[in-house]
Amino acid sequence: MTQPFIGKYSDRRPDTSPVWKRLEEHSQSIVHSDLREMFERDPQRFARFSLANGDLLVDYSKNLITDETLHLLLELAREAGIESAREAMFGGGRINWTENRAVLHVALRRRAEGALFLEDHDIMPDVRRVLERMRKFCHDLRSGLIRGASGKKIGAVVNIGIGGSDLGPVMISEALRHYQNGPTLRFVSNVDATDFVEKTRDLKPEETLFIVASKTFTTQETMTNARTARQWLFEGLKDWSAVSKHFVALSTNSDAVREFGIPAERQFEFWDWVGGRFSSWSAIGLSIAIGIGFDRFEELLDGAFEMDEHFRHQPLEENIPVILALLGIWYRNFLGAATQAILPYDQYLHRFAAYFQQADMESNGKRVDRDGEILEYDSGPVLWGEAGTNGQHAFFQLIHQGTQLIPCDFIGFVHSLNPVGDHHRKLMANFLAQTEALMRGRRPGEIGDDCPDELRPHKVFPGNRPTTSILLDRLTPRSLGKLIAMYEHKIFVEGVIWRINSFDQWGVELGKELAKKILPEAEALASGANPDLSRHDSSTAALMRRIFAPDGDEERG
Ligand code: F6P
Repeated sequence: MTQPFIGKYSDRRPDTSPVWKRLEEHSQSIVHSDLREMFERDPQRFARFSLANGDLLVDYSKNLITDETLHLLLELAREAGIESAREAMFGGGRINWTENRAVLHVALRRRAEGALFLEDHDIMPDVRRVLERMRKFCHDLRSGLIRGASGKKIGAVVNIGIGGSDLGPVMISEALRHYQNGPTLRFVSNVDATDFVEKTRDLKPEETLFIVASKTFTTQETMTNARTARQWLFEGLKDWSAVSKHFVALSTNSDAVREFGIPAERQFEFWDWVGGRFSSWSAIGLSIAIGIGFDRFEELLDGAFEMDEHFRHQPLEENIPVILALLGIWYRNFLGAATQAILPYDQYLHRFAAYFQQADMESNGKRVDRDGEILEYDSGPVLWGEAGTNGQHAFFQLIHQGTQLIPCDFIGFVHSLNPVGDHHRKLMANFLAQTEALMRGRRPGEIGDDCPDELRPHKVFPGNRPTTSILLDRLTPRSLGKLIAMYEHKIFVEGVIWRINSFDQWGVELGKELAKKILPEAEALASGANPDLSRHDSSTAALMRRIFAPDGDEERG
């Protein structure tokens, strides 16, 4: 295997650093501190613990931190070599060392002139060429210049992909639904045929375009759905040659695309230096661009580029993704938080947490460091969330009064895209009320006198529960691009401090391999044969016999 790319990052394990020990000691005093008092003592707390970039405001003052906390965390970040790691990424270093790849999703939204060399090759002309092809395709499809095999205008576009080839396009298309003025968009991801059947039930083959989005063009779920789509098209049009007019591929694997029957002019390529979970900015974003138009897609890239510039050039203490990452490290490694919630107070962002589950957990769900040593400290937390105010009526009880510390990011917008009556005021009143309630709590002495004694303990809120408020003016492609890039860089910084590779995903391989091995055994069982299942444990073997029994023989075995 290639040598790990270490660049000039620190060689020291973070938990062996004196600053780690000081943070551990400091955390003991913080658990006894009181956020409410901190605000009372310091009227400047919001001003000191908030950062802005354009219309983005990040208020982290309701976190369990003091100046000393930040000071120590910033020292940890510097020791970890964040600045050189950042330059290594933007400069095309092969920082994904287990796959010997550069990590250059930032190049996809680089709105600056000039070259960006990956070794001796300037990748910017490639990036711009594909963007131009996407622009033309979007225009021609939306205007009706590109039509189906029978000459009908395309009225529905179905993106077939999974993981990074699905979650980003889905989340962003949903988030920007307000701006959509193109064909109907559908997303099929699950290998459960229900997904394909339900999403295509009302579609007409002659008016449908399938986008097969797969970096590798080998993913079992995607290729199964793509073949089913090809069959569905044939059954509707009775013409195999229609595939070339009704399919588009977004992939790095040209040979497999061609073999499937999609011609070169219908393939939009990207490159191995684009990680799946960071690929919405690449050709993988084609469905987004078809939905909102290419100009608006470019605004999404513009917003991300603004954040890239901020992240790349701001000093660590004024750097929004760095501060968010340090808060993440603080809660995970020093205050024992196992999970983190993302709570967007905007219905359009209802898939935001699901998207970042992949971005964060596939990136930082790692157990060995860059030397292959097992971590003796925690890495990525479980990330979860739901749009507000719905979450308030589901799981907020536990955040307020449960036994765990759950740091929460509240995301909101000053202006609604749907200013109907006082809905937005109520929405944001809830946003504020929750962050204030979590911080202040309610002490025994603040419970009304009329409350019976036996109920009083149940009505106490401990408070001191940390939140970060992330506020933007309005949900636009630009603000969304900025928000996504902010979290991407946060994930990167955390990974550097944990000394892990945030850009591989070996952990998803074993299940894929085993599923492939089970498939022929399943086929044998379904045909009534009795294959040798002794390599499986008794649980798996019994379940297999039950699930794959031939029809009408479900009790067999
Ligand atoms: O299963 C994990 C994964 O490899 C993701 O990292 C990726 O986004 C997804 O599968 C889909 O991969 P592809 O785009 O190659 O189909």
